[in-house]
Amino acid sequence: MIPYSVFRMPKTINYGPHAFKKVGEEAASKGKKALIISDKVMESLGYVEEGVEYLKNEQVDCEVYLGVESEPTDIYVEEALNLFKANHCDVVISLGGGSCIDTAKAVAVLATNRGYIGDYMGGRKVADQPPIPHIAIPTTAGTGSEATDVTIITNTSNEVKMMIKQPAFLPETAIVDPILSLTSPKHVTAATGIDALSHAIEAYISNQAHPMTDLIALSSMELIVNNIEESYEDGDDVKAREAMALGALQGGIAFSNSSVCLVHGMSRPIGALFHVPHGFSNAMLLPAVLEFSKESCTERLADLGRIFSEEAKEYSDEEAADLAVTSVKELCLKLEIPNLSTWGIDKQAFESVISKMAGDALESGSPANNPRVPTQLEIESLYRDCYNYDFSLERKVR
Ligand SMILES: NC(=O)c1ccc[n+]([C@@H]2O[C@H](COP(=O)([O-])OP(=O)(O)OC[C@H]3O[C@@H](n4cnc5c(N)ncnc54)[C@H](O)[C@@H]3O)[C@@H](O)[C@H]2O)c1
Ligand SMILES: [Fe+2]
Repeated sequence: MIPYSVFRMPKTINYGPHAFKKVGEEAASKGKKALIISDKVMESLGYVEEGVEYLKNEQVDCEVYLGVESEPTDIYVEEALNLFKANHCDVVISLGGGSCIDTAKAVAVLATNRGYIGDYMGGRKVADQPPIPHIAIPTTAGTGSEATDVTIITNTSNEVKMMIKQPAFLPETAIVDPILSLTSPKHVTAATGIDALSHAIEAYISNQAHPMTDLIALSSMELIVNNIEESYEDGDDVKAREAMALGALQGGIAFSNSSVCLVHGMSRPIGALFHVPHGFSNAMLLPAVLEFSKESCTERLADLGRIFSEEAKEYSDEEAADLAVTSVKELCLKLEIPNLSTWGIDKQAFESVISKMAGDALESGSPANNPRVPTQLEIESLYRDCYNYDFSLERKVR
């Protein structure tokens, strides 16, 4: 029986090379004064100025917030919201990676619904007023945040990366222009590409998956598996960048309507406590968590194995699922993903917070969506396994 499911995505998605030019028209249809939420890197690349020009051409005035200096915190949200209010803006535009987009989502909701962003975690407060129209323009490929109803904001008082999910956080419009991602440096391309792959895989193996998300997750996995190495090896490969932008967008749509699972649940506490970029912390966990989950999602992982290799079409599900795990491991190696130890996290410091991290992971709700639902002790043990994880372990040959 098909489970009851809801499917949401932005009202409008503009995508393709030079879609960025559409920001003026999109903003003009929504208001008169925009707040652009971006960062200093985007400014130095000239993207902010370009966006301001497109707005001017359509008689849209704007203010710019460039304070997003790392993965977003409640402090950036407050600063950007104050700027939004002080300037009587009526549209929010995010231009950057997931950090800028997530900050903007919080501003768009708080501007009309009030309160502290953390109030919205776990549905304690529900955003029942329509948010300010938000146009999300990703420059990484990527979080897919432009198409999700999730925002992830660090609570600076308890160092928890809050996963907040409500329909009001979904941007009204997404503009996905792969040309903007051409300047993404290698380490950002690797981290954000693996994040996108993790979204597609987790959306597909999640207990919350349904036929609409399956279709999109499969397409996303295929686009990413076939283009991630190319975009990493040659950042100017426009075809690979286009495929990655589309794959990341689809990954976002898939997980927003299905869910992420154990990888993301365990990854957020590492980001909050050790400031490991989100994509890297996912990658550090992904092979071990897939290995742990395999017995409960063999057929689904077999589909992934068959995307990685034509030959696996002849394999049994068990063999193809094994191939999926070893292929993800090899991919991490090719993308030069460090483990927690080589990233530089002190072993004692890590050990001392394992119990808190496992508790925070469970509290987020994501592990409950995993095909094999872990206990607190199993999560703790997975953290220990990942500390010194060896991505280079031999591939099992058939
Ligand atoms: N809301 C969601 O659905 C969702 C999903 C996944 C991740 N996230 C969140 O997104 C955040 C991570 O976002 P991210 O991985 O996109 O990284 P990011 O936004 O933190 O950006 C990383 C760095 O790359 C730079 N950068 C971005 N695009 C660039 C470009 N085209 N050229 C040159 N430099 C560029 C940025 O300036 C920054 O210095 C995390 O906080 C994570 O939790 C949110
Ligand atoms: Fe993610």
